Formats: sequence, structure tokens, C-alpha cells
Amino acid sequence: MKILFIGDVVGSPGRNMVKEYLPKLKEKYRPTVTIVNGENAAGGKGINEKIYRQFLEWGAQAVTLGNHAWDNRDIFEFIDDAKYLVRPANFPQETPGNGIVYLKVNEDLLAVINLQGRAFLPAIDCPFRKADELIEEASKKTQNIFVDFHAEATSEKLAMGWYLDGRVTFVAGTHTHVPTADARIFPGGTAYITDVGMTGPYDGILGVNKEAVLKRFLTSLPVRFEITEEGGSQLCGAIVEFNQKTGKAQKIETILINDDHPFYG
Ligand SMILES: [Fe+2]
Ligand SMILES: [Fe+2]
Repeated sequence: MKILFIGDVVGSPGRNMVKEYLPKLKEKYRPTVTIVNGENAAGGKGINEKIYRQFLEWGAQAVTLGNHAWDNRDIFEFIDDAKYLVRPANFPQETPGNGIVYLKVNEDLLAVINLQGRAFLPAIDCPFRKADELIEEASKKTQNIFVDFHAEATSEKLAMGWYLDGRVTFVAGTHTHVPTADARIFPGGTAYITDVGMTGPYDGILGVNKEAVLKRFLTSLPVRFEITEEGGSQLCGAIVEFNQKTGKAQKIETILINDDHPFYG
């Protein structure tokens, strides 16, 4: 079985990349299941129902979120009915939505978990202990478990990777919007990458208009961060091949498509 995961889709440039390249990636890699992080899909801030449904139409089976989950208020209107939308599981208990979703893939089940880190991010429940709890629950149904760990600090993400080694299939880091070159398979059979990177504008800074970000750094004055529409776009992702009988990963490959790294089908 193969999981294709696409990192933080930012605004319309990101959505257009998914629409254009997901069919091509499916043809090239033949993933059994596709998961997209959509926390920045609506203008960089959150997600709405239309975009969530588009991701499913374009071929994703689940959409994960992160610290921007609640930025677009439309989410409160549809999250209860969005069966394939996964928000960080370690958010406070009263928050709407699910932190774990089960996908039926051929004859097998895949558990999709979203967790959020605590270093340089708002204080929430412990992602490590939440992971223990959810893995215990999921393991009763399936050995195939995907975790999108949405976190800022590379140390916290690597720690999660090692902590979950041998217990889940794939720990994919998101949130920093910059892809890391450390894709690997840990000794226990867990595929890992610190950050898959983002899918959106290539010529901005993390998807945001570079002039605005530079002004903030140079002057410390308040500026409005907007998605940059100028320049090219990129798509970042990773694909993991695994044995669905054991849940162990066999191969991890990263995907980077932009003006400097053209796609070859
Ligand atoms: Fe993001
Ligand atoms: Fe984020």
C-alpha cells in the first residue's frame, strides 16, 4: 500500500497545484490513499466547506489541519458532518471535530491522526500522551496508522518520530512550510520526515507576500500578511510504501515540484 501526503496547501496557488498535479502524481506513483494538509487552504487561514469538498473531489481521502484550524469560521458550520476532516487530537476536549479518522482502503483500514506540537505554539494537551492513547485505540482495529504531526520545533518532531517508531506507519511533519531533507525509515519500521513542506506560492516567504514579511523584520511595525499571487507555485509531499499486513514502512520518497524542480511524469 502507498500513502501520498501533500503538505500545507496555502491559498488558491496551493489549491491550483493540487488540482493540476494530483492526477499526475497518482499516475506516476499510484498511491492507494492520498491525504492533504489543508490548514491554510482558504486564503492562508483555515479551510471552508467548499475547499474541503474540492480536495475530496480531486482525489484526497482525508484532510488534516493544524494551528490554523479555526481561522475560517465556516469550519464550525460543517466540521460535525465532515467525516474525513482531521483536526489536532490534542486540542481541548470540548473542541468540535475529530483527531482520528479511519479510512477504508481496499480490504484494510488506515487510521489518520493529527497532532499538534507545543514548542513555540499555544499550550495544549501533551501530543505524546495523546498519541499513546490514540494508538492504543487504533491498534485494536488496524496496524496501519498515519500521523500528521503539526509542529514548529525540529527537536519535538524528531522526538515524536522516535517515540512512535514501530507503533505507526508514517509520521509526517507539517507546519513550518519548508521541506526537510531527512526522510527516513526508523529501525522499527516507521517512515518519518520532519517537514514535508508547503504547497502554494514559491516566491513568497512561507506562502506570504515577501514585501510584508520583510517590512516586519526590518521595522517591527505591524503588517498585514497576505498570500502572494505573484511568481510560481510549488507542491511538496511525500510518498510512503508499506506492508498493510504489518503496518511497517518499506520506502519513503519526497516530492518537490516548483520552477527549480520540474515534475517529470
Ligand atoms: Fe501551515
Ligand atoms: Fe501551522
